[in-house]
Amino acid sequence: LNNGLAGTPPMGWLSWERFLCNVDCDHDPQNCISERLYKDMADRLAHDGFKELGYEYVNIDDCWSDKSRDPNGQLVADPKRFPSGIKALADYVHSKGLKLGIYQDCGSKTCAGYPGSADHFEIDAQTFADWNVDMLKLDGCYADPKDMDNIYPQMTKALNSSGRSIVFSCSWPDYQRAEGMKPNYKLIGENCNLWRNFDDIADSWKSVLSIIDYYAANQDDLIAAAGPGKWNDPDMLIIGNFGLSFHQAKAQMALWAIFAAPLLMSNDLRALEPKFKIILTNKHIIGVNQDPLGLMGRRIYNQQNIEIWTRPVTPTKDSYYSYAVVFFNRRDMGSAVEVNTTMSGIGLNYSEGYDVQDLFRWWRSPVHLNPEDTLSVKVNPSSVVMVKAKISKKKTRNIPYTRTAI
Ligand code: DGJ
Repeated sequence: LNNGLAGTPPMGWLSWERFLCNVDCDHDPQNCISERLYKDMADRLAHDGFKELGYEYVNIDDCWSDKSRDPNGQLVADPKRFPSGIKALADYVHSKGLKLGIYQDCGSKTCAGYPGSADHFEIDAQTFADWNVDMLKLDGCYADPKDMDNIYPQMTKALNSSGRSIVFSCSWPDYQRAEGMKPNYKLIGENCNLWRNFDDIADSWKSVLSIIDYYAANQDDLIAAAGPGKWNDPDMLIIGNFGLSFHQAKAQMALWAIFAAPLLMSNDLRALEPKFKIILTNKHIIGVNQDPLGLMGRRIYNQQNIEIWTRPVTPTKDSYYSYAVVFFNRRDMGSAVEVNTTMSGIGLNYSEGYDVQDLFRWWRSPVHLNPEDTLSVKVNPSSVVMVKAKISKKKTRNIPYTRTAI
């Protein structure tokens, strides 16, 4: 969507996967969907080093609103759980140097049964603008996927006329896919800044793998759809929850960077284990995710449960790119697998060579490799090795490159 927003994939936090529709503030005041939860997360983003790395959105999901609209037809927040209202919450989030996102649904109800935006696009867009909201996720429950090519652009129009810059996140292609339709990504890219393509992420490795497989199987369509201002959204980062090991968490972070995916964490930042925080705050991997070219990567190799993914990134020279490369070991037995490939074997043909750096062990100095040289990595089961191969003239070193698994 050409609204000047989301030039790189949005980053921040979104409540759904971790906190779902927990509205029981009497028994679970810390974890229920309430202004307190979003303020707590804003505090953590601002004070624990996330904001500086680009994590700036604090995003509300389903179950924030009252059971019905007010007498003027306007949406209102649940008065018990959001006693200060959304505008005050936006003020708070902005005072921390962050941005606020909200959730609605294009059908008659949200998935959890709260009032939907059908027949209310203008008034709702205006309400969100008046509340100083910065991002809207528009879900697609209780709407007919066959009508979405017509429905979603109505909200795009309403947001554009609202007088406020609001990033627009759509669920449009996901609902159409689920119905067996082929999404029109050209139209979707003209109307949305990001969009969900596939199932909701759950807190499990199986769920992460299913998303990766969908992205691999549909990569030509997805790559063509993505670019600055318009991103495929494989759903939230679940790093720091209960379902992924340290190694699986590394794999999600690395592949979401290859996908040029929005990095919206859904975890409890108040209780994040350091090993997971290290992954989420890896500035080299975030740098790949946020690369200004905005080209989405692809899977270029898939044999015996070893995959290789590459993404073209800056700096470029003539018609050559630098690359982020992920070696992904999907075997669930044994120990590290050694993967050897020449640089040219993975499409890296710049004749003067590349400086190759391990992005999870960035403190090691880069190694210079020419197209005919061999890159050798050891990849643990359910894990990745991720490198950046940066176009360069200078020979920094010329020894065989071997990286051992952590
Ligand atoms: C379906 C969406 O895909 C989820 O991300 C979440 O927003 C739920 N609906 C909320 O009901």
